[in-house]
Amino acid sequence: MANVSTTICGIPFSNPVMPAAGPTSKDGAMCQAAAAGGAGAIVTKTISVEPAAVPRPCMAEVKGGFLNTELWSELSKEQWLETEYKLAKDTGLPLIIGLGYTAEQIAELAPLVKPYADALELSTHYIGKDLSPIINALTAAKKAVDVPVFMKMSPHPNIQEIALAMEAAGADGLVMINSFGPCMSIDLDSGLPLMGSKSGYGWLSGAAIKPLAIRCIYDAASVVKIPILGVGGVTNGRDAAEMLMAGASAIQVCTEGILRGPNVYGKIVSELNQFLDSQGYASIEDIKGLTIRKMKEWEANFTPAVPEVEQKKCKMCGACEASCVYGAISRSGQLQIDGDKCFGCSLCVSRCRFNALRMPALSQSQEGYHG
Ligand SMILES: Cc1cc2nc3c(=O)[nH]c(=O)nc-3n(C[C@H](O)[C@H](O)[C@H](O)COP(=O)(O)O)c2cc1C
Repeated sequence: MANVSTTICGIPFSNPVMPAAGPTSKDGAMCQAAAAGGAGAIVTKTISVEPAAVPRPCMAEVKGGFLNTELWSELSKEQWLETEYKLAKDTGLPLIIGLGYTAEQIAELAPLVKPYADALELSTHYIGKDLSPIINALTAAKKAVDVPVFMKMSPHPNIQEIALAMEAAGADGLVMINSFGPCMSIDLDSGLPLMGSKSGYGWLSGAAIKPLAIRCIYDAASVVKIPILGVGGVTNGRDAAEMLMAGASAIQVCTEGILRGPNVYGKIVSELNQFLDSQGYASIEDIKGLTIRKMKEWEANFTPAVPEVEQKKCKMCGACEASCVYGAISRSGQLQIDGDKCFGCSLCVSRCRFNALRMPALSQSQEGYHG
């Protein structure tokens, strides 16, 4: 078995998978369920000075993803301090406490949660896109506590600039990404938005945002030295491995935990372990930031190529043929790719549910893209 334990900012984690701030850590009982389900740490739902008045409906599964218009915890800070943090602390796992939002609010909250926190995670979701209020919130937290302070980032396009600014301002780590939006879905029966917010807007999470999360993590990890806790669209161990390769040091999971329950954390850890074993990696350290290291070599060596077919795996389902816009694929007797017509786009490789196709330039199949 590969070694999945890690240490982040001096905090030891028995495994790198944990619930993200959200409904799966919305109170002490949920934190305990996450621990029983195999999480390696707990990140509690963001609290602020006042409980949130969450509009409803506030959650919906949508094609490929998930919409929410939850704000922060609807529980009071007093309830968290009197009851919920104690239950979360009883798990014995590293406890990362989610706080929001402005410098003034953080200055009030951080000293209160200090006795429970192994680290703080500050959500920057509702304090705009300017850097100064975010940095002010970070500074207020750093003044109040001596534990690591992690900054939770939204998926900004200029993520490198923001990540560097956070690092320079003293952030101990970054958490990325928060849900993406605003987005909207409409209920066809009523003609009204699915979300009960005034605008009808919601924020997108789940599998749909994984490529966005991977890009943000990759970009940020390429320029900063502080650790990144990756979050966004992780549904299985291979997704977790992908996030580590992009440069994350640990993995947070929200939507998949909501949809499948608290055993997902242990399941993701064991799938991650299987992946590491199957590829001969001894530990998660071996794949952390692997893509950043490999990219220069990859760009230099890339040449378009025709996919290779492993005929015994091909079920002749026709999914690749149907989506080959170059008309290069045919099924007569067996799957054939016409090298003169093939553009080397590689869509067929990612479309194949049976891992029967691979690009020769890739060292391993793209198995798991669908799983
Ligand atoms: C219903 C819901 C509530 C959330 N509440 C919070 C929150 O209170 N604080 C926070 O920082 N992020 C919150 N998030 C964002 C998640 O922590 C996470 O960043 C995002 O959903 C992407 O991860 P995922 O694709 O695994 O869900 C929430 C997400 C969902 C779906």
